[in-house]
Amino acid sequence: MQFTTTLTIAALTALTHSLPAEYAASPRGWESITYPPGTGEGLHEYPAPSGGWESVTYPPGTGAGAGADCPATVSTFPFVFTSTYSVVAVGDQVRNGTTAAPGSADAVGYFNFGINSVEDTICYNITLLNVSGDYQSPAKTATHLHEAVRGASGPPRLSFPNPVGDDKRRVSFGCLTGPFTTGLAAGELADSGMGFKVAQIEVNPEGFFADSHTVLFPLGVVRGQLA
Ligand SMILES: *[C@@H]1O[C@H](CO)[C@@H](O)[C@H](O)[C@H]1NC(C)=O
Ligand SMILES: *[C@@H]1O[C@H](CO)[C@@H](O)[C@H](O)[C@H]1NC(C)=O
Ligand SMILES: *[C@@H]1O[C@H](CO)[C@@H](O)[C@H](O)[C@H]1NC(C)=O
Repeated sequence: MQFTTTLTIAALTALTHSLPAEYAASPRGWESITYPPGTGEGLHEYPAPSGGWESVTYPPGTGAGAGADCPATVSTFPFVFTSTYSVVAVGDQVRNGTTAAPGSADAVGYFNFGINSVEDTICYNITLLNVSGDYQSPAKTATHLHEAVRGASGPPRLSFPNPVGDDKRRVSFGCLTGPFTTGLAAGELADSGMGFKVAQIEVNPEGFFADSHTVLFPLGVVRGQLA
């Protein structure tokens, strides 16, 4: 884990701690919460998945074995990350195929990710320093998780909102839940995000990298492997 820093893991933890207070404890009771349309409002409990609650495999630390009377362990919000990644992305990691195609020499990207592979959700906290000019990509955004090992190019599987700010510091944070789209066709896939599950990252983090593309550096201004 060449690019791991504990500082950025702490920052990611801060993201989970910035949940609305109702999730921690609702002083007026759960009945007082107004759920947005389409999130199961009015239900007394979450409907069982096909196969029943018994069929759900819980990751360690999320209340595994707590029993079917505890549907909160299959929440629709990632209370718990099954894994986290702190990536430091730099220009000299950028490739065109397997050929070096350096991005900016004095830019750096901090891509902090928290994954809940049960929910197929990824939370991101991305900071770009010293990235100047407009973004550019044929995908729907120019900030991605790509599938490829170190030293090679590969298709985007996730498309994150581009960090916003000035040419010194740009930031983007939030969470995405599958099914995912990138807006880009790849090979036989109408969209290179089709069928992608964040669990694939946990199985093989060495096989994925994060990057951002700009007009000045269309192949990537900074890039970093997840492991
Ligand atoms: C994102 O990470 C930065 C440090 O890299 C931290 O200062 C900030 O609080 C984090 N934002 C969230 C929403 O966690
Ligand atoms: C990447 O390399 C290919 C040749 O392998 C070349 O045709 C293409 O122009 C390069 N792309 C950029 C943006 O430099
Ligand atoms: C940003 O650019 C300035 C000026 O080129 C440089 O001094 C600084 O070290 C850079 N910051 C990072 C994080 O690379």
